[in-house]
Amino acid sequence: MTIQLSLHDVTVRFGGLTAVNKVSIDVSKGTIHSLIGPNGAGKTTVINTVTGVYPPTSGDVLFDGKSIAGTPPERICALGLTRTFQNTELFGDMSVADNVRLGMHRIAPYGVLSAALQLPTARHAERRISERVAELLDLVGLSDQRATEAQFLPFAKMRRLELARALAAEPTMLLLDEPAAGLRAGEVDELNGLLRMLKDRFGMTILLVDHVMPVVMGVSDRITVVNFGQKIAEGEPQDIRKDPAVIAAYLGH
Ligand SMILES: Nc1ncnc2c1ncn2[C@@H]1O[C@H](COP(=O)(O)OP(=O)(O)OP(=O)(O)O)[C@@H](O)[C@H]1O
Ligand SMILES: [Mg+2]
Repeated sequence: MTIQLSLHDVTVRFGGLTAVNKVSIDVSKGTIHSLIGPNGAGKTTVINTVTGVYPPTSGDVLFDGKSIAGTPPERICALGLTRTFQNTELFGDMSVADNVRLGMHRIAPYGVLSAALQLPTARHAERRISERVAELLDLVGLSDQRATEAQFLPFAKMRRLELARALAAEPTMLLLDEPAAGLRAGEVDELNGLLRMLKDRFGMTILLVDHVMPVVMGVSDRITVVNFGQKIAEGEPQDIRKDPAVIAAYLGH
């Protein structure tokens, strides 16, 4: 299987604190790979490092076979690697549709001048963008709320809007930081369905960070477990579920 994202011995230090300690992970293309571990284990730091928020202190990160360590976040997003945030970061006073539009960095816009002059290319591009927004809202089940201000959405729908905005950048790989946090059981099932659909229908690669076991166990092809910044286990869900080191790490918290 082709490896899409690879962390090689990645260490991230903040002053005296080692948040991530020599972690290596290979994520295969077209799979859902979960990263789990107790609070403070270093999961978000892994996502921040992969997306260019912090450079690794040592080690390397490869995306599609090329090193992206130290590459700025916008460049990494343009390469096809997009994330969502643990605490949703939406523009609350903007509409649902406009929040999705803002995710479209990668769709090369027409020049400002042709937009101002209302040239046909600009109108054409504008129509394409609107169509794409409609498709994405349909995909995540938010078509009826396109004009609603994001702040008025119920929580589970905010989560789905974040996903639509990430997809607007046309990624080949998504990094999702706790997309199931705060969801009720039925909403968790919907999220599972959505993640599976992204993988099956679009061949999306997903690195999923979550504590919500029904999601992680339900959708993951492979799971990496970290504790205190170190990898303590890796394997398929049925093996991880009964791994003594994993059980001890979770019981210890
Ligand atoms: N920018 C930062 N500066 C200093 N310390 C940080 C920074 N970011 C994270 N840390 C520390 O690194 C460690 C790992 O944090 P991280 O947020 O990656 O954990 P996590 O596994 O995502 O936890 P949670 O499940 O609570 O989201 C923690 O001790 C945290 O306090
Ligand atoms: Mg976190």
